[in-house]
Amino acid sequence: MDKLKSLNNSMKTLWQYFTPTNIVSFIIKTLLENKKDKQISILEPSMWDWQFIKELIKIWYTNITWIEIDKNIKINQKENIKIYNNDFFEIKDKIWKYDLIIWNPPYVKNTEIYNSTKELLEKQYWSINYNLYYYFIMSSIDLLKENGELIFLVPINFLYNTLAKGLRKKILDNWYIDKIIDFGEIKIFDDASVEVIAFRFIKNKNKLKKNIDILEIKDKQKRNLSWDFSLEMFNDYKIEQFNNYNTIWNINKKKENFNYKKPITDIFDIYVWLVSGLDKAFLIEDNELLKFNKNEKNLVFNFIKAKNSINYKDHNKFNKYIFIEQWKINNEKELKEYYPNIFNKLKEYKEQLLKRYWTKNKKYWEWATIRNLDKNKWYKEKIFIPNVSRKENQAFTYNDKGYYISGDVCALSIKKDINLSKEEKEKYIKLLLSNDYTKYINQNVPKKWNRKLFSYKFLESLKI
Ligand SMILES: C[S@@+](CC[C@H](N)C(=O)[O-])C[C@H]1O[C@@H](n2cnc3c(N)ncnc32)[C@H](O)[C@@H]1O
Repeated sequence: MDKLKSLNNSMKTLWQYFTPTNIVSFIIKTLLENKKDKQISILEPSMWDWQFIKELIKIWYTNITWIEIDKNIKINQKENIKIYNNDFFEIKDKIWKYDLIIWNPPYVKNTEIYNSTKELLEKQYWSINYNLYYYFIMSSIDLLKENGELIFLVPINFLYNTLAKGLRKKILDNWYIDKIIDFGEIKIFDDASVEVIAFRFIKNKNKLKKNIDILEIKDKQKRNLSWDFSLEMFNDYKIEQFNNYNTIWNINKKKENFNYKKPITDIFDIYVWLVSGLDKAFLIEDNELLKFNKNEKNLVFNFIKAKNSINYKDHNKFNKYIFIEQWKINNEKELKEYYPNIFNKLKEYKEQLLKRYWTKNKKYWEWATIRNLDKNKWYKEKIFIPNVSRKENQAFTYNDKGYYISGDVCALSIKKDINLSKEEKEKYIKLLLSNDYTKYINQNVPKKWNRKLFSYKFLESLKI
């Protein structure tokens, strides 16, 4: 009984968001094509408030199966409706195949998936690090008949996440995507801020359709859900079917064809991150620096932060941070003796610093994540861009002073060992800083909550 109670509590907080009726009816109206044959077999694999099925029953579909793990949910047996009050992953191999699978699956972080479900997943999948909804989508492949259709509402993340490439591969191997509805920033679920999109996939290995139809909400920053959705509220355009699971799947409208062909990584090294984990502890103001002794001054470096990025300009803005490389200072006694002002400053934050997320063997006076430090040091000349931006036209910024880059920007530098003349190198740098290139990156960058994500993965996919 206790087990059941706690299972139910965790579900309440984690999984049970029901899909508002206006969203459900718009999805059905727009995505469901098989409208004539009311006998098609339909499955809702995690039904809870059975929003989708209610709508389908209203329009006379009858051959319906429900699954729901939560035994506390009252399910009234209805004619023609088959109900399984089980874990989907326990019974998915024992049920029939369907013409239509339609629903809003539970979005549950891997670490929060309920143990008994996790045990089932461990037996069925080679990778057990996914969000629960990835497994729901992948399993739907096996449960669909050939040419069957899958309609569902999910977070947009799996189009971008590196981890989701296993899921993207499974989709490419088995399906083509027919339509996507992009709801932008509309807050669909009361307590959950997730940006969601609705899909229609068709199970068919031969890609019968060259393009994907996209419906994109016109006012992407609109949050209010009390709308009667209609097609006029959406822009419609087409994009090509995706063909590579290793890359980001971008659903933005391609406005222009840019003529860049060469992979950017042929010419530029792209690198990220020195992350302090607690900026305020390491940030140094000029008046503090005046008191520092010589040893201490050697540990203060100029850092470029996202806020220092100014479109196009070669500029000279930076922040000063204490930055102590690993093993440079062996113990607290040494820190106190040779670097007394730094010790006094960091001591104040010691407790918070020790709570940062970091790897073993780190000392509290060190930064949390240090990647590509060698590259940061090597390259005086850097072109950088904030990882996240709301600017309409976010451009790269140029700096040649040898500053370090912090975790909120990504930097590019011409490869060290490349065989190019000085003029050619300059040409590439000017290209990245040009208006044309700015247009190119802004038209292609993926967005989340209307913020542009200039991630390492995105920059790596660019052409020049
Ligand atoms: C987001 S709700 C979806 C409700 C409904 N489909 C809708 O669109 O409104 C997700 C439901 O999945 C159920 N669920 C979670 N894990 C499950 C599992 N392993 N098997 C079956 N149902 C599950 C939860 O109890 C919850 O009711």
